[in-house]
Amino acid sequence: MTTLSEGAIRDALRRVQDPELGRDIVSLNMVKEVVVDGSRVDLKLDLTTPACPLKDEIEVAVRRVLEPLGATEIHVSWGAMVRRTASPQQAQLVPGVKNIIAVASGKGGVGKSTVSVNLAVALAQAGASVGLLDADITGPNVPLMLGVDGQPTASPNNKIVPLERYGVKVISIQFFIPEGQPVVWRGPLVGGAIQQFLRDVEWGELDYLVVDLPPGTSDAQLTLAQSVPIGGVVLVTTPQEVSLADVRKAAAMLRRMNVPIIGVVENMSAFVCPHCGEATEIFGRGGGERFAAEQGIDYLGGIPLDVTVRQGGDVGVPSVAQREPGPAAEALRRLASAVAAWMSVRAEAVGQPVLTVS
Ligand SMILES: Nc1ncnc2c1ncn2[C@@H]1O[C@H](COP(=O)(O)OP(=O)(O)O)[C@@H](O)[C@H]1O
Ligand SMILES: [Mg+2]
Repeated sequence: MTTLSEGAIRDALRRVQDPELGRDIVSLNMVKEVVVDGSRVDLKLDLTTPACPLKDEIEVAVRRVLEPLGATEIHVSWGAMVRRTASPQQAQLVPGVKNIIAVASGKGGVGKSTVSVNLAVALAQAGASVGLLDADITGPNVPLMLGVDGQPTASPNNKIVPLERYGVKVISIQFFIPEGQPVVWRGPLVGGAIQQFLRDVEWGELDYLVVDLPPGTSDAQLTLAQSVPIGGVVLVTTPQEVSLADVRKAAAMLRRMNVPIIGVVENMSAFVCPHCGEATEIFGRGGGERFAAEQGIDYLGGIPLDVTVRQGGDVGVPSVAQREPGPAAEALRRLASAVAAWMSVRAEAVGQPVLTVS
């Protein structure tokens, strides 16, 4: 029998691909430690996101290449090292933030804040360090949906200290406006305020900062798309045509601004009756999927109409944090994994040396 060497193990691991990134785990620098003891192998592998949906698949592939070498006992321990999509230039504004994920929609009321809040909490639950910036001045609902209230304090170096809930650092425009007063800020002012929130908030080190954008394609979004270093945008729509028409405009605007689109999520897809289990497609069917195909973007899945989403939103307990989560929670968690995976792929792509073609 051949004795196992660390070198042989590392060589073999070059045949294991990260299915999403399409490259081997050695060249991706995911293999952090190889310890060989007789025929026992202990590996430490770093994922590119703690919310990685492919852990099991990678482990199966690792076993498949190491067993033929004579490894009889294989132990894999997992870590995560989230990579950045933010360029050095963008990083000046928020040096500790690796990835900004914006959530946008064509119109209000489609579930943009619901998606933002659950996305942030799900990523934090997976072990990532996460912030949530409520930039929707037309309806800053994040504080209510997270059950977080209060006035942020200043840090010793005069930055704004975010509030924290469910392991997520939260800042909302709501914290800075007197209760019951409407916000009448114009677009450029909003952009300025959001830039200030990025710059002047003590975010610390964050893997992901989720930004709940105002709906639509007004001045505010334009200024935002220009002024905020967005790694990718999740578009939220409901299945019916009126919502799709508006999200189409939002997508066109983002394209024009060169803001990468992660994909589209269809919220309020079928309603599953809690009594009989029958699914009713109240707002029609397949709209989000057709939109994704038409736009050439990823379809990130559908989130069912689920009364516990609305109930949780009203009392500050997001679906993914509920003790008895309804059918939407699983879909929201899957969404978080898909978004994290997309960011990993994107980080890998933008991290590549730029090839000049002459
Ligand atoms: N999948 C869902 N099932 C049930 N209610 C939902 C769902 N998604 C959103 N809601 C509810 O619909 C309302 C609008 O959602 P919200 O996230 O505030 O939309 P937006 O931020 O786009 O205006 C909220 O009361 C929310 O709780
Ligand atoms: Mg909202």
